[in-house]
Amino acid sequence: MKISTALVKALNDQIAMEANASYAYLSAASWCEITGYDGSAAFFYTQAEEEHLHMLKFVNFLNGQGSGATIPAVKQPPKTYKSLEEICKTALTNEQGVTKSINHMVDLAQKDKDHNSFTFLQFFVNEQIEEEQKFENVLQKFNLLGRDKLAIYEIDKLLAGMAITPVTESKN
Ligand SMILES: [Fe+2]
Ligand SMILES: [Fe+2]
Repeated sequence: MKISTALVKALNDQIAMEANASYAYLSAASWCEITGYDGSAAFFYTQAEEEHLHMLKFVNFLNGQGSGATIPAVKQPPKTYKSLEEICKTALTNEQGVTKSINHMVDLAQKDKDHNSFTFLQFFVNEQIEEEQKFENVLQKFNLLGRDKLAIYEIDKLLAGMAITPVTESKN
């Protein structure tokens, strides 16, 4: 079954969203590295890789279904940031936007009775629950531990522990 025009467009838009997310995390990682937040840098570098893999999943899915993927231009991410907390707040907002976008595609697939796309999207439904939880947890730590140097040091260590190896995680 051919994917509907509306869903093909949404899937292509999602390629751009994942690419932008990947570059936003890459920029955050780079800033953290320069600033001396080594754990956070490690975490955001793996986040960037993970988003890159998400992007590839959409590219491969569209191509595999005979609806050629469009490779987009990437938005210029910020070069500097106010604080680690600010990065995490923005990340949560962006992830919430991605969740909305995924849910919209699930709605389209359901409307189209496109079971194939629906099944493909389930990975991302679950993934977004994890992504939002990650940043909610970190932001909660700022409220619990505070924002002084010692607190940031602890949160940086926590983020180091959250750095995952996306290659193994995303294999399915
Ligand atoms: Fe993603
Ligand atoms: Fe994400």
